[in-house]
Amino acid sequence: MAIIRDATERDIASILVILNDAIETTTASWDHEKSTPERCTAWYEARRAKGFPVLVAEEEGNVIGFASFDIFRPFQGFLHTAEHSIYVARDARRQGAGRALIAELAARARALDMHVLVAGIEANNAASIALHQQAGFEAVGRLPQVGRKFNRWLDLVFMQKALG
Ligand SMILES: CC(C)(COP(=O)(O)OP(=O)(O)OC[C@H]1O[C@@H](n2cnc3c(N)ncnc32)[C@H](O)[C@@H]1OP(=O)(O)O)[C@@H](O)C(=O)NCCC(=O)NCCS
Repeated sequence: MAIIRDATERDIASILVILNDAIETTTASWDHEKSTPERCTAWYEARRAKGFPVLVAEEEGNVIGFASFDIFRPFQGFLHTAEHSIYVARDARRQGAGRALIAELAARARALDMHVLVAGIEANNAASIALHQQAGFEAVGRLPQVGRKFNRWLDLVFMQKALG
């Protein structure tokens, strides 16, 4: 069973490997090009500077997943709504790390006075939709063909959970 903890700078290399594999092989990230150590470090530092968590799932000393959130949109009216991202390494999926990361993210968001947690998910990402459904998120909207990757249009499904 993975433990969930705050990431440190030493985890950035592992986070980058997991992220770049998802960029290259999935529509979970809508980036087309792999990230770099510099960009990943800047992302990590920006999240920490805002006081938002960057969590990792660790098993037997290896980072097998990560998750984080930021304000849903950068306007003051959204200060109580967070949008998260979550990634589990390909060979570590379906072992409960995603579920554990989301549970801790929701707890952290609640502690930071977030009211709603939002997930933006590519409509064909059945694993993520099922994970979020199981974690108590409900689908609230679909934006057809707002993304493009791998030479096809992507629909974006929004799911949200009230933290109350
Ligand atoms: C989506 C993702 C984070 C799930 O993480 P995970 O560690 O594999 O998920 P868990 O093992 O905690 O699964 C929890 C529940 O989610 C659902 N689920 C997870 N993967 C699933 C799959 N491939 N098919 C159907 N349901 C799935 C199941 O209900 C599962 O519970 P169960 O195993 O008891 O049936 C992982 O597949 C991933 O990193 N995918 C690539 C990146 C991505 O899509 N990120 C989300 C972007 S919105």
